[in-house]
Amino acid sequence: MSKRSLRSPLVLLILSISFLSLSSGQSKPVDAEGHPWWQHAVFYEVYPRSFADSNNDGVGDLNGISSKMSYLHDLGVDAIWITPCYPSPQVDFGYDVSDYENIDPMYGTLADFDHMVAEGRKHQVRIIMDFVPNHTSDQHAWFQDSKSSRTAAHRDWYIWRDGKAPGQPPNNWNSLFGGSGWKLDPTTNQYYYHFFYAQQPDLNWRNPAVEKAMLDTTRWWYKRGVSGFRLDAVDTLFEDPELHDNQILPGKNAQGDPNMKNEHNTNFPEVHTELQKLRKVADESGAVLIGETWTSNVEELDRYYGHNGNELQMPMDFMFMMVDKLSPPEYRRQIAAVESAHGWPVFVINNHDRTRSYNRYGDGKHNDAIAKLMGAFYLTLRGTPIMYYGEEIGMENNNPTRKEDVKDPIGRTGWPEEKGRDGERTPMQWNTAPNAGFSKTTPWLPVPSSYQTHNVAAESKDPNSVLSIYKKVLALRHSNEALLDGSYAALNDSDPNVMSYLRSYKGKAVLVALNMSASTQKASFDLSKQGLGGVLLNTLISSGASAKGNEVTLEPFGLLIAEVN
Ligand code: NOJ
Repeated sequence: MSKRSLRSPLVLLILSISFLSLSSGQSKPVDAEGHPWWQHAVFYEVYPRSFADSNNDGVGDLNGISSKMSYLHDLGVDAIWITPCYPSPQVDFGYDVSDYENIDPMYGTLADFDHMVAEGRKHQVRIIMDFVPNHTSDQHAWFQDSKSSRTAAHRDWYIWRDGKAPGQPPNNWNSLFGGSGWKLDPTTNQYYYHFFYAQQPDLNWRNPAVEKAMLDTTRWWYKRGVSGFRLDAVDTLFEDPELHDNQILPGKNAQGDPNMKNEHNTNFPEVHTELQKLRKVADESGAVLIGETWTSNVEELDRYYGHNGNELQMPMDFMFMMVDKLSPPEYRRQIAAVESAHGWPVFVINNHDRTRSYNRYGDGKHNDAIAKLMGAFYLTLRGTPIMYYGEEIGMENNNPTRKEDVKDPIGRTGWPEEKGRDGERTPMQWNTAPNAGFSKTTPWLPVPSSYQTHNVAAESKDPNSVLSIYKKVLALRHSNEALLDGSYAALNDSDPNVMSYLRSYKGKAVLVALNMSASTQKASFDLSKQGLGGVLLNTLISSGASAKGNEVTLEPFGLLIAEVN
């Protein structure tokens, strides 16, 4: 899909005190130093269809997730964001919600959900739900009523308009997923608007009843024990009520539609007013709001934190994820940009909408080394990371090779240019059993043959595996004060191959050096500017690297994390 298209005993004690007090009611969700819990946490995205299948029907479920809590805890995960598991016709695999306050039977029941929250508490893993505020499913009772007549109680909960002329939609807005963003409904002979699939009608956030229903939904889940939400597609909440046409740009997209500037149907200032309201409700429960925040510059990203931090605590920095090449200069620029914003950075390298990083960054020869390097990179930056299931074992994309196998609708309409998002959503690779131990039945999407080598069981036994490096880095970032709270300073900033930086906190410092090239590199460090004299690097974690004094030798894609003495 395109752009739019070891924890130290003290830290453990602090974390568990704040966790326990939070989960037993409203409490101060901060540690002794004033950090909210989510700043020290590691988040992990679970795609529920593909994580663990407890009832062997080929699709993952909540009991499957519950059964993996000790894995998640041991890995170093503090919170899981579960993509939508509400009742849904699954046109967009859960992002078409037909009931916001229930669980889809394919994933289990509300009792299973409560059990998952309880299992999470036992293992210090919080639950973050996915909130889809822009649209519902066309099967949602609200929409069913809305479409039934022009005077229906829920008519104005969605965006209905007359066509411009017979057979012509109200304006030229296209759906992100292909074709017009308007669909004529014959019952009332009006068009409704959908930014995504036609089965995902946009809610009308200018209607106070919609706002109230949605705020109440978040309250309902907080009471049930969730620690926050990831907010889907926030930039699309509002549209121009006068329906001005969007500007057409040169060329066509993968769906064959003319490119268009989404100037009149995205990024309205009203979005921020709603985020402030959602935040107020979240604050009642010490909860966190994570944003699916597609931005093209840091000013836009900055706005999502809100004035005085009154909107999203965790807007995701997708500009970092979009770098897509191992380029130290580009990464330095991106990190400097997010460091200049007025909020806590949030780093992501994978999600369920993008080709996995294993393939995006991999060069076909050093993919495992690159996967370790990327983990050592974004997990040691100043900010909160959000991992994606399977990233920690170097899972690769498994794109469909035949159109008839594609499940994601955009992959069928956009074939072969757009193969859809199935490839990055395949079952978690647990072991070498059939179907990678995900299920005893053929899974809804096929596992790639790489599961034979890249799986949790095998990698747990190999101290040099991607998984072992991830575990070491995650354990270090939970226990090392410089990594938890330290400032970030880029080092050797004209080096085109080695990305290096210093994280410092109260006289303690950790240096990270990452060879982003396919040839051996040396780097030496003069930290006098940082107030540190003769540098002696004491290796904490390395892979394909060694340090002597202030000099590091890095094999292709080697990584080194060292204490500075
Ligand atoms: C963003 C989600 O990440 C994506 O998977 C979904 O298709 C769209 N929003 C629509 O909800």
